Amino acid sequence: MNENLRIAVVGATGLVGTEVLSGLLQRDFPAEQLTVLASGRSEGEALDYGEETLEVEPASAEAFRGQSVVLLATPAEASRTLAPLAQSAGAWVVDVSAAFRADGNVPLVLPGFNTELLSATFKGRVVALPSAVTTAVAMLVEPLRQGFGVAQVQVTAMMGVSSAGNAGLRELEQQTSALLSGREPEAHQFPHRVGFNLVPQVGPFMANSPWTEEEAGWTLESARLFATKGEVPVVAGTAVQVPTFFGHGLSLHVRLKKPATVEQARAALKGSPALKLLDSPTEKVYPMPSLVTADPTIHVGRLRSFPQSPEWLTLFATVDNAGRGAALNLVEAGLRLAERTA
Ligand SMILES: NC(=O)c1ccc[n+]([C@@H]2O[C@H](COP(=O)([O-])OP(=O)(O)OC[C@H]3O[C@@H](n4cnc5c(N)ncnc54)[C@H](OP(=O)(O)O)[C@@H]3O)[C@@H](O)[C@H]2O)c1
Repeated sequence: MNENLRIAVVGATGLVGTEVLSGLLQRDFPAEQLTVLASGRSEGEALDYGEETLEVEPASAEAFRGQSVVLLATPAEASRTLAPLAQSAGAWVVDVSAAFRADGNVPLVLPGFNTELLSATFKGRVVALPSAVTTAVAMLVEPLRQGFGVAQVQVTAMMGVSSAGNAGLRELEQQTSALLSGREPEAHQFPHRVGFNLVPQVGPFMANSPWTEEEAGWTLESARLFATKGEVPVVAGTAVQVPTFFGHGLSLHVRLKKPATVEQARAALKGSPALKLLDSPTEKVYPMPSLVTADPTIHVGRLRSFPQSPEWLTLFATVDNAGRGAALNLVEAGLRLAERTA
């Protein structure tokens, strides 16, 4: 590791930030080249990093000085302020929030999908990452697109409360305990009680639109990612907040351009290093959120098709949202950009 290289993780006290630190530690990134930042609320907090302890500083222009790469694991409103500051300080910036995903001047990069954009020339030094659901959809669809062409993807995403960070985890914990004690809990992070419930709204609705920002994001981000492949399937669906803590489940209906048997589709998915096939239904083997936590691969199974419409493929998948769907993308993109400064 180049000893002049410095990485700052902003949002290091959050759910995704914690996973980013694990990812860097797993890759033996040295503690002395790492800076952990968050809001002023966390100033002075101590974070474990292997055998070392790192002290949290408030994110600021001053803190970005001398950093080679800044990884933003912060809410979108914070990223909008912090990314320009980090860029002005001369750092490469990778942002995992929704702040820049729709910005045509900012490359949208999914490591392992269109990694080559990280070595290309682009305006500025900020890179955006897609959402956890788009990460999973793109990785699942790409081998099918390569094998058969894909025209359309309908997705229902069952999203665990960790999609709302540490506050989401606390809210389900509190609601579950209140309900088991016979009390009706209050809803703060989610529009309704999520404990023992399903809420077909994740995040706010778009202005004057029946789609939520989360759902509209899948369509737009997929279009941007697949544009780099020259073939853009239409991705659309429904986001549902479900009362699980970690992991998202995705029910997908994929319309292929060329009909394929389940066996052919299975072989195509099996060939992707980003995926793990769990598809032996008679042995009760299929993807579940409880199996995917801390797994860097996306799990896929329950493959089905109908003889009457062989161009449609139905499947179920899971992704570790905070890990694979966010933190690992930050770490992989950040380390790749770091090579540009080496
Ligand atoms: N959770 C997921 O599954 C997931 C998946 C994909 C993308 N994302 C995105 O990842 C980002 C982080 O999400 P999360 O789940 O980790 O949320 P989280 O647990 O709420 O953590 C948020 C982090 O951001 C920090 N922060 C907030 N405002 C800040 C400011 N003004 N300046 C500096 N730091 C600030 C917080 O610091 P304090 O502790 O000091 O408040 C905390 O460290 C969000 O944009 C989210 O949309 C999350």
